[in-house]
Amino acid sequence: MNELRTLAEDGGAVVILDQTRLPHETVFVRLTTLAGVARAIRTMQVRGAPLIGATAAYGVALGLAEGLPLGNILATLAATRPTAVNLHWALRRMESVLENSALAARREVAWNEARAIAREDMEANAAIGRHGLSLIARMRKAVRACGDIDVVNVMTHCNAGRLATVAHGTALAPVYAAHRAGIPLHVWVSETRPRNQGLLTVWELAEAGVPHTLIADNAAGLLLMRGEVDAVIVGADRIAANGDVVNKVGTYLKALAAKAHGVPFYVAAPLSTLDFSCAGGAAVPLEERAAEELGEGSQVAGNVANPAFDVTPAALVTAIISERGCAKPTEIAAWQS
Ligand code: MRU
Repeated sequence: MNELRTLAEDGGAVVILDQTRLPHETVFVRLTTLAGVARAIRTMQVRGAPLIGATAAYGVALGLAEGLPLGNILATLAATRPTAVNLHWALRRMESVLENSALAARREVAWNEARAIAREDMEANAAIGRHGLSLIARMRKAVRACGDIDVVNVMTHCNAGRLATVAHGTALAPVYAAHRAGIPLHVWVSETRPRNQGLLTVWELAEAGVPHTLIADNAAGLLLMRGEVDAVIVGADRIAANGDVVNKVGTYLKALAAKAHGVPFYVAAPLSTLDFSCAGGAAVPLEERAAEELGEGSQVAGNVANPAFDVTPAALVTAIISERGCAKPTEIAAWQS
């Protein structure tokens, strides 16, 4: 697999893979300033909760290298996108490590901490892949026991693959692990209107050689009803203390349809996506994006609402897969320590 890095250091700069140009063009952008990082996150050149967090951490290091005050740096980055808690988690972590370091050492400390956040994201996602692999292996046994079909069919939404993280992905980490382990599988990828992150998922699954099929978002219910899906696996932008899952808009409808048809619904996310300070999904700020994103960029007549995320109640979630293992949404408090 020829993996293009989503985020890499280059001297005193950070290089990102511009996701607004994918899948048509592969363009790398070198970021050297806080403003550049903030713009990259806001315009979704980098996107996906874990990748946003790691990129923001490097943004803090770049801002300090520019001589900017830490408070301004944190406020600028915090204002870029509201929902993915990994961003705010990374900023809090940077703030606490910098508060405890001597002024003269701050630039180096910030750079090292950003590097640690990026490395830990890769490790957490690799562990999610291992835990998810056991689930998929069990699914394969069940699929084989039911007849002569030997392919596990997974449905996913948005892009919670390696492009959304520093490496491996969250929802797709188990898929990649199963593919590497030789388990035959196929992924239904929903388009994910209006920004079509499903096309990013198609791009990276094709790159990895994983069989997949793109569907319109509205086709998901039919496929679940027909028994063509063995499990839904999605990522998350924030998971509240009660196990409610906030993820890309459209996730909730898939969870409802999965429940109606007895299909397990899994959410894969690192611990940096868990927010125990939010009691439930209703407390999570949901990003409203520009009206222009609807209607293929053309002028849309009339009122437009463009909520970018929705809340899937914990009761619809079979289990959450983190680097600690698999747990029912009601049991994630055990991961707090
Ligand atoms: O608006 P985006 O593209 O940043 O939203 C991404 C998602 O909703 C992903 O499903 C989520 O961040 C999990 S990514 C591992």
